[in-house]
Amino acid sequence: MAWVGTAELVVAVSEAGGLGMLSPLTERGLKKELDIVRERTEKPFGLNIPLNSPISEQIVNLAVKEKIQVIATSAGDPSKFAPLLKKSGAVTMHVVASVKHAVKAEEAGVDAIVAEGAEKGGHLGHDEIGTFVLVPQVVDSVRIPVVAAGGIVDGRGLAAALALGASGIQLGTRFLMTKECIAHENCKRAILEAKDDSTTVIMRGFLPSRVLKNKFAISQKAEKGALIKEGMKARDGLLKGDIKDGAIWCGQAAGMIHDIPSVEELIKRIVDDAEKILHL
Ligand SMILES: Cc1cc2nc3c(=O)[nH]c(=O)nc-3n(C[C@H](O)[C@H](O)[C@H](O)COP(=O)(O)O)c2cc1C
Repeated sequence: MAWVGTAELVVAVSEAGGLGMLSPLTERGLKKELDIVRERTEKPFGLNIPLNSPISEQIVNLAVKEKIQVIATSAGDPSKFAPLLKKSGAVTMHVVASVKHAVKAEEAGVDAIVAEGAEKGGHLGHDEIGTFVLVPQVVDSVRIPVVAAGGIVDGRGLAAALALGASGIQLGTRFLMTKECIAHENCKRAILEAKDDSTTVIMRGFLPSRVLKNKFAISQKAEKGALIKEGMKARDGLLKGDIKDGAIWCGQAAGMIHDIPSVEELIKRIVDDAEKILHL
């Protein structure tokens, strides 16, 4: 998660039995984040590489040099870097929002797919396919494992994802709302107050992104250079707590989040609840 996928969150997730994914887009910078993660945990963790970033090639090179064990590419064509990343020994995943892109990613040689439904927070696929519809179709179209993402915040979501054929889940908005996440208090408070209809999609047709409804979201138009501008707006919203003029990237499931637990409490709760539902 851009801006908030810092070492603190990654360490907390990996220590609690999940796979913490570091973002290269943080205030401290990737190398510093990596050093902190390695100092604080020996558990596996990964790195997300948004391929639409102007510095994606630099991040790939650093990931190879640093021998990062798990790489998840997103927002672009994974075929350019997949062979290099595989050669480095990393387990590779690619994030998709459609069956077509899942099939292409499998052909490019990635090891697993993250299928993200349009309920999710942040950048979306243009066709806005929901998780319940996307995940089973991706599962039926590829032979590699599929991780479900988008709108999953509790044990019910985990159980449902497994029932749809996913091998695991990826959480964004729910991890934003944890003690270890550096998101600003104002931002967390705004998400706590969210309801089912509190998010909206901005920049449709150009760079669709799901954010909390606020002054910025309502005034936003598709425009050239939006990726950079919106990235800065997201930093203002998520880190500086500007909940009127900043972009608060969060998913539709914000309305299902009513507390700010530690990552460890959260993961235990989700797994325990899913086990009860599935009679495990
Ligand atoms: C604040 C925020 C930042 C995100 N940044 C990224 C990113 O940089 N790269 C990426 O692949 N996905 C990013 N995502 C998507 C998440 O990795 C995750 O797949 C998604 O949030 C799942 O849906 P959910 O928000 O309903 O949990 C971000 C999501 C949020 C909420």
